[in-house]
Amino acid sequence: MELKIKKGALEAQKTPCLVLGVNEGKLKTQALQALDQHLEGRLQRSFRSKEFCGADGEMLLVHAGKTVPWERVLLVGMGKEKHLSLKRLRQSASTAARFLLERKVCSFLLAFDLLSIRNSTLAERVQAQAEGVLLADYRFEQYLGDKERKRQADLTLAGIWLSPNSKRIDAESAVEVARQVCAGVSFARDLVNQPGNCKSPEYLARQAEQMAEEAGIQATLLTRKDLEREGCGGILGVAQGSCRDPYLIVLQYHGGTKDARPIALVGKGVVFDSGGISLKPSEKMDEMKMDMGGAAAVLGTMLAAARLKLPVNLVAAIPAVENMPSGTAFRPGDILTSLSGKTIEVLNTDAEGRLILADALTFVGRYNPRVVIDVATLTGACIIALGHHASAVLGNHDGLVRQLLKAGERSGERLWQLPLWEEYAAMLKSDFADLKNIGGRPAGTITAAAFLQNFANNYTWAHLDIAGTAWEEKGRPGYPKGGTGFGVRMLIEYLRGAT
Ligand code: BES
Ligand code: MN
Ligand code: ZN
Repeated sequence: MELKIKKGALEAQKTPCLVLGVNEGKLKTQALQALDQHLEGRLQRSFRSKEFCGADGEMLLVHAGKTVPWERVLLVGMGKEKHLSLKRLRQSASTAARFLLERKVCSFLLAFDLLSIRNSTLAERVQAQAEGVLLADYRFEQYLGDKERKRQADLTLAGIWLSPNSKRIDAESAVEVARQVCAGVSFARDLVNQPGNCKSPEYLARQAEQMAEEAGIQATLLTRKDLEREGCGGILGVAQGSCRDPYLIVLQYHGGTKDARPIALVGKGVVFDSGGISLKPSEKMDEMKMDMGGAAAVLGTMLAAARLKLPVNLVAAIPAVENMPSGTAFRPGDILTSLSGKTIEVLNTDAEGRLILADALTFVGRYNPRVVIDVATLTGACIIALGHHASAVLGNHDGLVRQLLKAGERSGERLWQLPLWEEYAAMLKSDFADLKNIGGRPAGTITAAAFLQNFANNYTWAHLDIAGTAWEEKGRPGYPKGGTGFGVRMLIEYLRGAT
């Protein structure tokens, strides 16, 4: 698919469909009236009959006459003007793209630049539109037959129109940013959507290795033997029930100066979480192939960062395991010795993510990181707290949390902070080991983070719980059912500001 910046009079743009955003109730603007002259008053008639009033997500498609080079006009409702935001803009671009694709209109021109969005730069607005289109264009069809594939039309050209005083070069570099970021998002989505039978820890490791090779990133794979030699008791304990070997995937990207301390990204890579001996109920267990959504977000971010040549140093660590019940599986009551030396009493084998993250968090400490961010589908409790519209963020440094919250707001991948007061840490006291791996039902997301904090006390750290956001259950604009790639856009936004 081609993405092109267009300038000049709208009346002179040749396109199968001109797409315009309309604020709710704002149906008499100069632009709309000028447009309607070419449409023989069809817009005003539709407005009068209340077929369209600009409410969020509403759409009106009309065919144009011979006086203009556009074949059609699509109006997209943007909702109330005071709620207009980059998020809404991105969403509207997705909605329009999907709507037109379903009607086999594979080329269009977005003219959202007629709207004004407070506190936003041209680059941000163009990036949001380009992302909206690219995210809507994503499909996972590796396992679909040719017939099913052909039923879906492919986007050929999306134009983004700029008003006269907008700078073309700014817009073009924003499109480039969107392209690389969305390459990272698509890579992450593909990994999440891959079914468990095809997605062993080794598969994840090979995918990471191949991506690294192509992007100019250094990759190291620690095998079971390496993990045994190091003493990664958390990773080995969880992996013990599966006949598939665990890996610790380590990637290094050098975009900054030689001596600049790296930012470390840690991603939970449980390729399938059955719960282990503390087996999960069968309903929706299929979705637990997404339990490597954190790993996918980290890998997608590494890919996008390298392609964007961000001037930072990055190290990524991904513990990749499968959590299965079997005769060799670890059991409730087992005590594991983590890489840090701290012992952990396992009271529930389904609280496995924190066990593998504990080792990975200790491991990245060796790189003297200036910041460590871990990303994990860690707790069902996070879905109870925030639903599917935000991820939880917790950390030991308010400045870092604030930066992440801001990146979340700007990227539309929202975060919400939960507290990490010491009372929560006390809920993890064990009678037999340094700590236990569950803190009871209350505040499940917080006690999980409090557990991780024990392994992150030597550096500035934040934890993102993406259990509610890594997987889309139904499908919505820009997000087909399946993996969302949540985290990539937000982390790139953060990294672009952290340089
Ligand atoms: N991977 C799950 C968390 C999860 C649940 C992610 C639903 C996405 C959707 C995690 O390993 C888990 O099982 N957590 C337990 C922890 C509990 C045993 C303390 C949970 O949330 O129930
Ligand atoms: Mn689990
Ligand atoms: Zn899990």
